[in-house]
Amino acid sequence: MSQEFQAASEEAMGLRAAIEDHNYRYYVLDDPSVPDAEYDRLMQRLRQLEARFPDLITPDSPTQRVGAMPSDSFETVEHRLPMLSLDNAFEEQDLLDFDRRVRDRLKREEEVVYCCEPKLDGIAISVWYEDGRLIRGVTRGDGTAGEDITPNVKTVANIPLKLRGEGYPGTLEVRGEIYLPRAAFDAYNKKALEKGDKVFVNPRNAAAGSLRQLDPKVTATRALEMCCYSVGFVEGGELPGSQRQILEKLKEWGLKINPLTERVTGAQACLEYYRSIMQQRDGLAYDIDGVVFKVDDLALQEALGYVSRAPRWAIAHKFPAQEEMTVLEAVDFQVGRTGAVTPVARLHPVFVGGVTVSNATLHNMDEIRRLDLHVGDSVVIRRAGDVIPQVVSVVPEKRPQNAAVIQRPETCPVCGSDIIQLEGEVVARCSGGLYCAAQRKEAIKHFASRKAMDIEGLGDKLVDILIEKELISTPASLFTLRVADIAALERMGQKSAENLIKALEKAKSTTLPRFIFGLGIREVGEATAKTLANHFGSLEKLQQATIEDLEEVSDIGPVSAGHIKSFFEQPHNLETIEELRSHGVHWQDIEQVSREGLPLDGQSVVVTGTLTNMTRDEAKDLLVSLGAKAAGSVSAKTSFLVAGEKAGSKLTKAEQLGVQVYNEEAFLAKVKEWKGE
Ligand code: IVH
Repeated sequence: MSQEFQAASEEAMGLRAAIEDHNYRYYVLDDPSVPDAEYDRLMQRLRQLEARFPDLITPDSPTQRVGAMPSDSFETVEHRLPMLSLDNAFEEQDLLDFDRRVRDRLKREEEVVYCCEPKLDGIAISVWYEDGRLIRGVTRGDGTAGEDITPNVKTVANIPLKLRGEGYPGTLEVRGEIYLPRAAFDAYNKKALEKGDKVFVNPRNAAAGSLRQLDPKVTATRALEMCCYSVGFVEGGELPGSQRQILEKLKEWGLKINPLTERVTGAQACLEYYRSIMQQRDGLAYDIDGVVFKVDDLALQEALGYVSRAPRWAIAHKFPAQEEMTVLEAVDFQVGRTGAVTPVARLHPVFVGGVTVSNATLHNMDEIRRLDLHVGDSVVIRRAGDVIPQVVSVVPEKRPQNAAVIQRPETCPVCGSDIIQLEGEVVARCSGGLYCAAQRKEAIKHFASRKAMDIEGLGDKLVDILIEKELISTPASLFTLRVADIAALERMGQKSAENLIKALEKAKSTTLPRFIFGLGIREVGEATAKTLANHFGSLEKLQQATIEDLEEVSDIGPVSAGHIKSFFEQPHNLETIEELRSHGVHWQDIEQVSREGLPLDGQSVVVTGTLTNMTRDEAKDLLVSLGAKAAGSVSAKTSFLVAGEKAGSKLTKAEQLGVQVYNEEAFLAKVKEWKGE
């Protein structure tokens, strides 16, 4: 054995031990000691060593989680001990009855000790360890036989390929639930939607779908986890005599158990556990559908035995379902801050996830098409965690004859303005701007904000209250507020009212960039407002600017130019501006450098294609500094065109119109000439 190999072998062993330790801390203890990047570096180094010396690769190396070849189909494997199911309790009384039966059978009056565990909503799995090494992963299947999905199970990051510590039986079958955490589910669906792929309706289906992949590389991308809740077939070793102790042992050996597991005495304590977990349910990182109570003492379990396919010593106490079916009665369209028009499902009220739900978001028209949703449809509603209720699917066989196709309105349901949907955008918007009551509220908040008019003391909450009390309705109406109006509001004294009026008075004296930003024109952020102010110098000039004028400004493309132009075309926006001015809102115009006497004064120029010495915007700025107007499109009035590489239609048009064209080299030579260099 070469010295080098020997050294690599020792290093690989050290790396594996470290990585396994990090895995254990991260997945089982929820207490990682190193940042992800460090973990990644260790993995990377181990991969390097194994690539250099393939003989170093062991089947249980952390690098071997993915790598098995895709199989054609899964083999059916019989369970050595059947995987049972559980009886369900829905009401508290069902649980009390269960406890009574247990005590009657055991012929004892004293209270029974139960092991209480959350009931994870995932896929039941059996994982086999032979001398501490993972050799097989099998689905529950029908309880008697399941599918051998070993390569996929090996990709689940928190399932150890090799058990930790010592004292584990030679043959150990561990049972538990494989699930997809909610965050991973949401992230997966978000991506799938963007790519136009199929989404999963809930984390459970996502987990099932991910485990059923023929290619384990796909499974490996899904961030699945496993939580263990019992053992199956055990040989060649002893296990402790209670459920709780067995779980503790599993944890010692590196397997994840649920940290919310508790040992309690008596049925009343079980009910308390149920209520406490139910309260925590929405905040958990994964879906649960109830809790499981198990007689803790294995000797008592044995005495109780089984009835058909379920143990007499355990019961599942179910929570209200997070998915329910109801009927879609109507679809309304709501208008948001930026005018985005969002369809909202009006549902026949249904109790789901612990609350009565009668509305659900539908996001946009694409979503309605994706679901193939019709009014009158029976739909599946999901309310999990504190997420707003979602329509996850339609039940097609329940569609009534008169089910109606859903159409987006042509005009805004709030203000009647046209609804516009730009090509390539999924969101449709009300074009009403400040005229639209729905948009006005948010517009006022934006207008008052720190980077706009900076009205001190006028926060979002106060705006809500002022609108609710009908004291304001537009940005301009802010300036009609009186001390007495504000002082009369709850939690607003005379002093704070006076301060607000003072702040409003102070805000009247503003700057042109702040005022332009405060108008809330789409795509005009703080920086663009500044650029526009500096370029045009006055609000009047900006208002009169044509699309071409606007496109001359660096950083303004055709889309923003269109938004700016149409903003100033709406009479109500002009009225608002006038009103603000009449209330005394003022600013200083920005002095414009005169073009007179500059070499390109009076010339209109266009820049197109890719330049190598500067960007197009830099070229435009250079031309403007020489007195030219930089236009966005070529016309007969164009004085000359600067055409870089890959120039297209603008070059063709200039040639057709006989407009002078300079390539980059000629342009730079000309610049020197114009500058008199
Ligand atoms: S014990 C004989 N414990 O619920 C006992 N099951 O309806 C068998 N489940 O298929 C199961 N969390 O997949 C048990 N803490 C837990 C559980 C749990 C989820 C699932 C399991 C089983 C189903 C029983």
